[in-house]
Amino acid sequence: MKLLMVLVLAALPLYCYAASGCPLLEDVISKTINPEVSKTAYREVLQEFIEDDATANAIDELKECFLNQTDENLQNIEAFMQLIYDSTLCELF
Ligand SMILES: *[C@@H]1O[C@H](CO)[C@@H](O)[C@H](O)[C@H]1NC(C)=O
Repeated sequence: MKLLMVLVLAALPLYCYAASGCPLLEDVISKTINPEVSKTAYREVLQEFIEDDATANAIDELKECFLNQTDENLQNIEAFMQLIYDSTLCELF
């Protein structure tokens, strides 16, 4: 979970772009959080960015990590994303 937070924070500028009109990224983020998207379906969404097995495995693991979360946690993550979109931090980007 700590590693995940680091990844999320490192991706902050990207998340900010998502709010400023990059539909692909917004789509990927919502599919990451959505528990109804299976690992297979998620992999298909990201197909064009997968160049090797290591990447594919990392993506599987990331999705599994989200699938393992409770609904309550996922809602919190969604709320957290919304906070990031709306935050003054994003004004930097
Ligand atoms: C998800 O949960 C399963 C079963 O509890 C566990 O074996 C697996 O390692 C977990 N995956 C991640 C990425 O945390």
